[in-house]
Amino acid sequence: MAVENITWHDASVTRKERNRKNEHESFVLWFTGLSGSGKSTLANAVSRKLFEDDKQTYVLDGDNIRHGLNNDLGFSPEDRKENIRRIGEVSKLFVDAGYIVSTAFISPYREDRQQVRQLLQDGEFIEIYVECSLETCEERDPKGLYRKARNGDIPSFTGISSPYEEPESPELVVNTEENSIEGAADLIVDYLKGKELL
Ligand code: PPS
Repeated sequence: MAVENITWHDASVTRKERNRKNEHESFVLWFTGLSGSGKSTLANAVSRKLFEDDKQTYVLDGDNIRHGLNNDLGFSPEDRKENIRRIGEVSKLFVDAGYIVSTAFISPYREDRQQVRQLLQDGEFIEIYVECSLETCEERDPKGLYRKARNGDIPSFTGISSPYEEPESPELVVNTEENSIEGAADLIVDYLKGKELL
């Protein structure tokens, strides 16, 4: 959409100043994966570790955001696209505010994730594929949604009647069938330390 008659104002406190004060960089940990793969649990486990290490951290979670900011959106491809676009913009604001923001959205379409990557600067978008087979997600079925989807009570359910496009070159893949949440969170923190982001 064209932006007309709108003027950009520079902030009096810059991101650089915030990062210096916080003593760490700000960036996005973008968790993507099937429903039930462990995105939210893992994002929260990582956020807890970062918080305890005195980092500025915040989690944006699909279910929660859909209660408020995005409560006008459903699960059609267009709505999912808009969901991810808005979250991308919100993430960018958090990065500007100096936060390490963890997002937990299925974000099933490669193109939508790529658009968020492009919205951010190089190195600010860290895509983490939370890998877990559909069979295991369905067995876990923590909210009973797969059962409902199989019964035809939820249309366009990811993995059942709506696609999930696996990341082709994510920064990180963590498998939640092979790793405990604690172990997977440690892998992510180790990765960030290895990249000197923490
Ligand atoms: S998306 O695809 O990124 O826009 O989805 P997201 O915002 O992450 O929302 C996913 C959560 O919504 C619940 N839910 C559904 N998921 C997938 N497909 C359909 N049709 C659907 N309907 C409701 C579900 O609880 C998802 O949460 P998670 O945490 O992924 O299990």
